[in-house]
Amino acid sequence: MNGAEKLGRRTDATIEAEGLERVYPGGLRAVDGVDLAVEAGEIYGFLGPNGAGKSTTVRILTTLLRPTAGHARVAGYDVVKQASQVRRSIGVALQEAALDPLMTGRELLQLQGALHGLRRAESRSRAEQLLERVDLVDAADRLLNTYSGGMRRRLDLAMALVHRPSVLFLDEPTTGLDPVSRSSLWGELRSLNDEGTTIFLTTQYLEEAEQLADRVGIIDHGKIVAEGTPQELGRLVGDPGLYVKLIDPSQSDRARELLAVHGSVSDRGEGCLSLRTVLGARAIAPIVRTLDEAQIEVDAVEVEEPTLDDVFLAVTGHRAEEPGEDGSP
Ligand SMILES: Nc1ncnc2c1ncn2[C@@H]1O[C@H](COP(=O)(O)OP(=O)(O)O)[C@@H](O)[C@H]1O
Ligand SMILES: [Mg+2]
Repeated sequence: MNGAEKLGRRTDATIEAEGLERVYPGGLRAVDGVDLAVEAGEIYGFLGPNGAGKSTTVRILTTLLRPTAGHARVAGYDVVKQASQVRRSIGVALQEAALDPLMTGRELLQLQGALHGLRRAESRSRAEQLLERVDLVDAADRLLNTYSGGMRRRLDLAMALVHRPSVLFLDEPTTGLDPVSRSSLWGELRSLNDEGTTIFLTTQYLEEAEQLADRVGIIDHGKIVAEGTPQELGRLVGDPGLYVKLIDPSQSDRARELLAVHGSVSDRGEGCLSLRTVLGARAIAPIVRTLDEAQIEVDAVEVEEPTLDDVFLAVTGHRAEEPGEDGSP
């Protein structure tokens, strides 16, 4: 038996954590025994509501906060004992990044290059490359206080990339962004990943995890309560749901009886029914046919995508808190 085997679970994962724990002064167990194994080249989505322990985990993995128990390695280095090696290997864009509002995007990127030890000319050319990469060339010489939320997040990302890290940590990179800015950032993260960057991102949005992540861990009250591919997590909710809206609400009872052959139906009032069926979207045609034959007119039939709330309810038995709350459990 060699050394690695003796350590049991140790793998060559790019991010690995075992029994990671953080108890804040005062006794709050913000991270409570987290195990992780993120392989090189993966996009791992860390999904959870406000206060779940996402940022605390990221701060530990990025060497900004010591765990009170357990250990973690990133890019092969221990986050406590080899913190400076870890820092050299990773790029970090934190949730509460405070950028100086009276600097320009270009100035900040060049400064970041200098902080990473790049020479002046190198720093300049790297800044140019990155401005182009995140589509901020036109805004490069504007003060940050004129940047939109989406532009700031793109600059955060560019800053995290200055030293060409192999692992990227992003804490809620798109929270509060409009859909267009969000999907442009997703595109950027996908292409970075295609180039080989391992990405660990936290999010409150199931859709974000579904769109981006190869694998997702759901964290609640400091514990990982479910982990898997987005498809696997969606299935935890149970059979897919369909939402049926009738033109005439007085036909609800009749429709409910008829649809019961297709799955389990519940009446939501005002002519709206929801149906759980193993067939998912494939049940739409038979449903419409059944109702049509009974001369019940249908206003709409839609597949109901499971939300983070549904997955949460399925795995924890309680609803996720609404984003925007203070996050205390
Ligand atoms: N510095 C701190 N001191 C005490 N409690 C904290 C501190 N930072 C965060 N917490 C608490 O730890 C829990 C997890 O917080 P956090 O990791 O920020 O969650 P998330 O990023 O998922 O919203 C929350 O209950 C939060 O209030
Ligand atoms: Mg957070």
